[in-house]
This record gives sequence, C-alpha cells and structure tokens, in this order.
Amino acid sequence: MAISRFSYASLNVQDIDASVRHYTEVVGLRLVDRTKTTAYFQGADNQDHHCVIINQRKNAGLDHVGFKVNDRGDLDEAAKAARDHGLAVKEVKAGQIKGQGRGVRITLPSKHDMVLFYEAEKIGYLTGMENPDPVPRQEKLGGKVTHLDHTLLSCEDREPTVRFLTEVLDFSLTEKVVDPTGGIIAAFMSCGHTMHDLALGPGPDGSFHHMAFGMESRGEVIEGVDILKETDTPALEYGITRHGVAGVTTIYFHDPSGNRNEFFNGAYLAPGMPNEIDPIVWQLEEFPRGGFYYESNVPQSFFETVT
Ligand SMILES: [Fe+2]
Repeated sequence: MAISRFSYASLNVQDIDASVRHYTEVVGLRLVDRTKTTAYFQGADNQDHHCVIINQRKNAGLDHVGFKVNDRGDLDEAAKAARDHGLAVKEVKAGQIKGQGRGVRITLPSKHDMVLFYEAEKIGYLTGMENPDPVPRQEKLGGKVTHLDHTLLSCEDREPTVRFLTEVLDFSLTEKVVDPTGGIIAAFMSCGHTMHDLALGPGPDGSFHHMAFGMESRGEVIEGVDILKETDTPALEYGITRHGVAGVTTIYFHDPSGNRNEFFNGAYLAPGMPNEIDPIVWQLEEFPRGGFYYESNVPQSFFETVT
C-alpha cells in the first residue's frame, strides 16, 4: 500500500476567529480559505490546498487526519484491506472536503478517523511557482514553519492500530517505548522518509495529543519560542528542550481551544522500507530521557492533557 505522506489534520476549535489568528500570526501558516465555520491553512513548502483545517465546534479535538496515497488505485485497495481487517470505511466524495478529490475514511482501532485521498487542489509554494526566490520576500507573521510534519494521537491500546498501520498500510515502525512485558506504550511510525508521520501514545481513545510543524533550524525554533512569549501563547511546563526520541529540538504550545501544537527541528531521516528496518526500542524506565532528554522527566500533564 503506497501512502506517501501525512497531509493534514482537521481539528475542532471553539472560537474560529481566535484560532485563525493563532494559526496565522503565531504558528505562521498561510490562510488559504475560510467560511464562517471552517478555515484552511498551508505551510510555506507545500503546494497542496491545506495542511490544517479547523472546524468551529462545541468541543476541541480531532475530526480526522488526512494522508495522501501515491496512486488513485490505492484508495480502493486501502478501503478493501481496511474492511477485511474489520474496520469501518466510508466513501468521501470529491469536493466533500474542500480542495480534495475522492477519499476513503477509515476508523482506526484507536477510534481516530483517517482520510486517504489522492488528488489535492494546488496553491503553490509560498515563494511562488515561477522563478522563485529561495526565501519568501514578504515578512510574514508567526513562526518560520516550513511544513506540517507529524501528529501524535492517543488511545487506550496502541497495539491493534500499530498492527493495522504497519501490516496493512505498510507504515514503518521507527521507534517504540515498551513496558517490561514488551507491550507498546508509544509507537512512532513513518510512511515516507521522515522519522515519523504518525505516532501513538497513551490516553483516551480518539483523542488528539499534538501536531508538529517543522522548521529549518534550531535557531528558528528558538525564535518561535520568542513569538509564543510575545503573544502570550500557553506553552507546556518545560521551555524549549530536546526529545531523546528522534533527537529533535522542540517546544509545545496550545491553540486557543487547547489543541497542542509543536515547533520542532532536527529529526533524522528514516530508511522508508516497511518492515525491513528494526525499530529503536526504549524501555519504559528510560522513557523520561527519551521524552525530554535534558530534564529526564516527563511531566504528568504531557499525556494527561489531550483534546
Ligand atoms: Fe511531536
């Protein structure tokens, strides 16, 4: 199954105007389109219509994650494989999600919905599509985010979803955190060449832990923290730090509805060979160092606070 990339997260927010300000002026995304109840954003280095959709709803959290497939035919293949695996699958008509062609919506064992699609409307890179400059000319607000990189979703039992994603949809397991019996506490999975597109961690089924926006340098992450301070954006207990898992420089913060965001830089590339490369294994007692490498401590709120 050829899933090529994590394309977007569709999130629910309680105040769409405040959220539009957050995702443009704090995160630094481009506002592509909006209605009274929905808004679409894209980073600088992606041509597709959106990498984030926000929907005005009563409660915050995830509506679905979107993944792009390499070939039109992969959609029917994935739908059949998911049904054969006992999962609920719904058809998504072309245009039903703005800027996207036909898709299939699969409810994962973790109770998160994943939409697979092939076609996306193109808006081009921020620097344009003809004779571009290497960096954007105009001074834009917010962090110097290049792209949406990955998401971490929470669920009670990670193993059935890890099995479906790795055995049926051909994700590679790059790192995992295990308890003394070998049970999976957290799993980091890639469908391309980055260290992770989708991770799973402990928490209530169907809940959203965070989505991460990539930057080109550690310096830009530090500049991002200054923006968070200037805009009084609520951040996690720790200041800027580093994960042992993936080794990235990272800061977490929240949108106005409490959905967690991350600025990060420095993940290693993955070989992109499903089920051929052994994952890095973290034993649970070492996970505080894997979670927050400098502090060697994972604050309780890190897994408890989800939307
Ligand atoms: Fe992350």
